[in-house]
Amino acid sequence: MVTRCPLIIGNWKMHCTRAETEHLLSAVLAQLSLPPEREVAVAPPFTALETAARLLAGSAIRLAAQNLHWEPQGAFTGEISGPMLKELGCTYVIIGHSERRQYCGETDAQIARKVRAAQRAGLVPVICVGETLEEREQGATLAVIRRQVRGALQDQAPLAIASLVIAYEPVWAIGTGRTATPSQAQAVHEAIRNLLAELSNSETANTTRILYGGSVKPDNIDSLMAEADIDGALVGGASLQADSFVRIATFR
Ligand code: 13P
Repeated sequence: MVTRCPLIIGNWKMHCTRAETEHLLSAVLAQLSLPPEREVAVAPPFTALETAARLLAGSAIRLAAQNLHWEPQGAFTGEISGPMLKELGCTYVIIGHSERRQYCGETDAQIARKVRAAQRAGLVPVICVGETLEEREQGATLAVIRRQVRGALQDQAPLAIASLVIAYEPVWAIGTGRTATPSQAQAVHEAIRNLLAELSNSETANTTRILYGGSVKPDNIDSLMAEADIDGALVGGASLQADSFVRIATFR
């Protein structure tokens, strides 16, 4: 039986100045005592990464970025590259979040390039996939997820698939307070794992961590984590309060 180390990531989105980062992370560090065999990371905005890295030095909490560009450097005004994030101490980078697909027009092809750029820079990609409410109501959930996962993993070798992270975030559950039920989430996670086995092999698929995101809160984390194929959470709003993020990170 394969064990996958549970991973909880706080995605702060466009929240927290450096001063607010100091305040929030100091409170998290004061309250969090991490159980063994568990990974926790926070993804502050780019401008607060250095502040967060300084505060987290010597702690077990890892640093994640929210996006990167697919080129390592060049004339791309306003963009940030993988090597820049690596230098700041990032372990993970979130790629293809639905907000970036929706508001910045990110495509599956761009996401695939970003995944490869992250790997070249030595960062672990956290690839977000998820259907809209309309797609779910049309019965298209699994078709959408398959297209997004296949799109992001174009040309990936089986070994590479084992070390990346997938986050299933149904768009209708993000910031709405409407969480997928544990069994709704489990059904999609299982389908993603089956697809990963098709794209690589079952041993690899059993090693890849698949996180759930979308209105994860202290009162639903335990039941979500009880599902066989849910290996962690990508937490938005509830990661901006130290006590709720700590409760989620120490799920039972
Ligand atoms: P909420 O937890 O605020 O619903 O956000 C989820 C999310 O988008 C995490 O990436």
